[in-house]
Amino acid sequence: MTTVSVSIDGRQLDVPYDARVLDIAREQGITIPTMCEHEHLKPYGVCRVCLVEMRQGRRKKLVPACVYTFREPVEIFTDSEWVRETRKWILAFMLARSPREKSNSGHGGGARRGRAARQAQGNRRGQP
Ligand code: FES
Repeated sequence: MTTVSVSIDGRQLDVPYDARVLDIAREQGITIPTMCEHEHLKPYGVCRVCLVEMRQGRRKKLVPACVYTFREPVEIFTDSEWVRETRKWILAFMLARSPREKSNSGHGGGARRGRAARQAQGNRRGQP
């Protein structure tokens, strides 16, 4: 079996070629939030909630952990400032697209968050 030397949150690992970042992270006990990923569905990486930071030399970018696979040595950071901020924005945009959704708390927090997210978007009501 071909392996690739990678790093996840500073842990040096030899992982199978083409293994998904999400699966390896879970094996290591690292939690990465997901929304559209399900064991009975083919991964398609649409919600972007599972974004992690990938670094390779000076190159760095955000990649969805549920579809990104290890094919070369890279460093993965699952909880960097960039990752946390981006996930927060993604969730805010999702909430903004469902403004009538009530929060589970029953205090209208969902509506408030949706309104805040719309304001963060520049209140572009009516635009797709
Ligand atoms: S869980 Fe939705 S893109 Fe990865």
